[in-house]
Amino acid sequence: MLTNKRILLIIGGGIAAFKSLDLIRRLRERGANVTVCMTTAAMQFVTPLSAASLSGNQVYSDLFSLTDEAAMGHIQLSRAADLLVVAPATADLMSKMANGIANDLASTLLLATDKKTLVAPAMNVRMWTHPATARNVTQLRKDGVLFVGPDDGEMACGEYGPGRMAEPLEIVDAVEAALFPQISEQFLTGKRVVITSGPTHEPIDPVRYIANRSSGRQGHALATAAKDAGAEVILISGPVNIPDPAGLETIKVETAEQMQAAVEAALPADVFISAAAVADWRVDIQASQKVKKSCDGPPALVLVENPDILATVASRTFERPRLVIGFAAETEKVIEYGQAKLVRKCCDMIVANDVSPGSGVMGGLENSVHLITASAVESLPQQSKGAVAIAIIERCGAMLEERRS
Ligand code: C5P
Repeated sequence: MLTNKRILLIIGGGIAAFKSLDLIRRLRERGANVTVCMTTAAMQFVTPLSAASLSGNQVYSDLFSLTDEAAMGHIQLSRAADLLVVAPATADLMSKMANGIANDLASTLLLATDKKTLVAPAMNVRMWTHPATARNVTQLRKDGVLFVGPDDGEMACGEYGPGRMAEPLEIVDAVEAALFPQISEQFLTGKRVVITSGPTHEPIDPVRYIANRSSGRQGHALATAAKDAGAEVILISGPVNIPDPAGLETIKVETAEQMQAAVEAALPADVFISAAAVADWRVDIQASQKVKKSCDGPPALVLVENPDILATVASRTFERPRLVIGFAAETEKVIEYGQAKLVRKCCDMIVANDVSPGSGVMGGLENSVHLITASAVESLPQQSKGAVAIAIIERCGAMLEERRS
């Protein structure tokens, strides 16, 4: 996908710099030529030798290195790239970018460029939410700078919240999106698409709940791909630690029953995609107070079945979406069970994937899926969830077109 694309990766000084080494590897796996510039602070976290070994290219850090200037001036270094990626982008580096400050090689390259720049911020949550950083982010967005992340999560400093650098594969997706108009055909223009994503949490008492390992990455990537294809997208998401996709409406829910109500309220739609890992069961009677330990032993949880949102939508006789797509997460006989689910839940397509332990799919960044319809099974190679989403949305466009003609 990135064959012969030249990426200038600027590594800022943050603990997330170690993830940038993996990013180099992931970019190169996809055929990109990566040149690295490191700030002085970045070199406190990772060494230029590691970055040089992984990129296979010389690493630049010094604005006044005569040999580098003779071989390749800093202007050419940034002009020769197809895309500049700043990862991790520290508060300091973003502040320099927003204000046009060029007092070291990294900030000078960023000012000297005429190419797109993608930043992956990483900083303490208070620094990210500080009004000064918010101002800089607004300015950078206005200047056309692209962002990926930050994600929510636990920080190296022990605090929790937004500020964690996006994972390397998310950055790779954003690099691909920046370099290639992802879905050029606006074949979902004028279409309304409702998508569920993430897990549901089913409360036991006010502090405990039943959950699963779904990250919401696949459902959120589908929402972005549908929006890029021109659709009006309503994303209904269970509790997740990833940012809401930009440019579309995200409705946040916790339980399966809330998700069902939100889906019913969002319909009618042309397409319904049920990517959420909806809990099959909920606790029959939720305790209003925290359940205490007692000498009678552990409490017996009585479970009742949750509504099957997908099956309910797919079997509507009135205002059924023209396309209803479900997921089948299986640990064995993936295609066989997927085909059975297609019939049982009256769907138009099932996206079946292997979530057995060791596959790394549940909560991971990549997916390998089979697209199952009544007439065919198409197996896609293992790829990022962003790329899988694009393939599914392209298929939706084709199926809607087939039905029209
Ligand atoms: O039956 P199973 O849970 O394997 O089916 C998975 C598919 O059904 C997914 O598309 C999921 O979003 C959907 N589903 C649902 N409501 C449920 C359970 C699953 O919409 N209660």
